[in-house]
Amino acid sequence: MPLVELVRIGKSYGGVRACHDVDFTVHSGEVHALLGENGAGKSTLMRVLCGDVTDHSGEITVAGHAVRFHSPADAQKAGIAMIHQELDLVPGLSVAENIFLGREPRTRLRTLDRRAMTRETRDLLRRTGIDLDPRRMVGELRTGEQQLVSIAKALSLDAKVLIMDEPTSALSSAEVDRMFTAIAELRRGGTAIVYISHRMDEIGRIADRATVLRNGSVVAQFDARDMTADQAAEAMIGRPVRTMFTAHHTDEAGEKLLEVNDLVVPRSRPGRRDPAGISLTVRRGEIVGLAGLLGSGRTELLETLFGAGRRWTGQMFVNGRPVRPRNPRHAIRLGLVYVPEDRRISGLCLDHSVLANTVLSIVDRIARLGVVPRRSEVGQTRKIVRELGVKLATVYSAVATLSGGNQQKVVFGRMLLTEPDLLLLDEPTRGVDVGAKAEIYQLLGKAAQRGIGVLLASSELAELVGVCDRVIVLRGGRTVAELTTAHAGEADLLAASMGEVVPL
Ligand SMILES: Nc1ncnc2c1ncn2[C@@H]1O[C@H](COP(=O)(O)OP(=O)(O)OP(=O)(O)O)[C@@H](O)[C@H]1O
Ligand SMILES: [Mg+2]
Repeated sequence: MPLVELVRIGKSYGGVRACHDVDFTVHSGEVHALLGENGAGKSTLMRVLCGDVTDHSGEITVAGHAVRFHSPADAQKAGIAMIHQELDLVPGLSVAENIFLGREPRTRLRTLDRRAMTRETRDLLRRTGIDLDPRRMVGELRTGEQQLVSIAKALSLDAKVLIMDEPTSALSSAEVDRMFTAIAELRRGGTAIVYISHRMDEIGRIADRATVLRNGSVVAQFDARDMTADQAAEAMIGRPVRTMFTAHHTDEAGEKLLEVNDLVVPRSRPGRRDPAGISLTVRRGEIVGLAGLLGSGRTELLETLFGAGRRWTGQMFVNGRPVRPRNPRHAIRLGLVYVPEDRRISGLCLDHSVLANTVLSIVDRIARLGVVPRRSEVGQTRKIVRELGVKLATVYSAVATLSGGNQQKVVFGRMLLTEPDLLLLDEPTRGVDVGAKAEIYQLLGKAAQRGIGVLLASSELAELVGVCDRVIVLRGGRTVAELTTAHAGEADLLAASMGEVVPL
């Protein structure tokens, strides 16, 4: 008997059918992958199962008994827990407080037992191989670190069914490995895991079964161990996929667009890995990758280049001129654009329409011409939506109603509209489906052909090797290696990130 059975589940948002007659089962001790394009209905289906979406049709049974969840608390009582795609931690609370939120340990006098909380959190983090101080504020943590906290929190719930919606999208391969060890242990103990991910290589490694959704319906089921990535991608998209990477290799790199010499951010903040000696160049028409483990300083470097306002020493040249971006506005004037890894801080106004969000970036430009021609705004936005294949009802829909991956495409589209010289990208394909990833890589290739330079931080080694001309490896805030992708592969990158000696 399946542990959980979902029968003919349906859920619509206005006119959009997110799930339609979906049957889905979960057995104890299995890792069941749930796959599908952005907007296919994966998160919606799982939010039904975890009691987050309650106005759905169809039935749920747990261990053979029909249940009706009215809240996530109901589902949790039935042993079902979910790690959400858009993390739902409280930024103003510490790691330990977040993990024990609502079930804090008490002393004999019924007061909060902070000591026990910190100790138990430290234990939990150690068991799951996570290196974090329980007392740190979650709001100060990087997206990847927040993901680790959510995972630890979910593990501590001792759920019978654990739903993981893109738990590793901001983790590097070493952290993913550790996560997988934890998952394998849970599985041996009989926990069922529903695993949602756009990283196809992960599915083959941990999943037993895979179900593919397309437009809200189940279109394929696989034994995950003999499913190929191509088969899965074809089922997701409904047609064979073109080759993923349009490897971009410049024959003749242009002039130096960005040059950084020995960049150091002296005032180190607790827990952050600040740049401690980074040198690199990006030429026109070049795509340069930034590799490194979580905490290697990739994000901090990009933020500093974009004028995050921290004091730093060293030199930075843009187009041969020495510059020191004072703030993001100044950096944009210098021709830089930055897409941060976290959508929530990337300036997307979730309550506003897709149109308003994309246009925010070009409004300056349009306004300079005098009037703001609404027709052109709508046209530009539609063009971007079409090019990136953003799935939405209309361009007037609020960004909040888009699926996670489609929100990411909006961020990307908006950036392309500003026509910058240099793109600073932090995990630009995080949570984006295979089809859209291919689109984004092509767009990057096109941008490079037009002479734009790209500095791309990514924790997906295949992505770095597939799209970059060169990859700079950071470790502990320093440049430790530089590899040409024509001569080096994923294994070399990993070795360099982990600290094995690679000649510069
Ligand atoms: N709160 C909401 N309001 C309106 N529409 C929504 C809402 N949540 C989801 N949708 C719509 O339902 C459909 C399915 O979305 P869902 O988030 O389940 O997709 P997904 O498969 O998880 O995609 P992704 O891979 O991008 O996370 C999409 O068309 C989405 O726009
Ligand atoms: Mg989703």
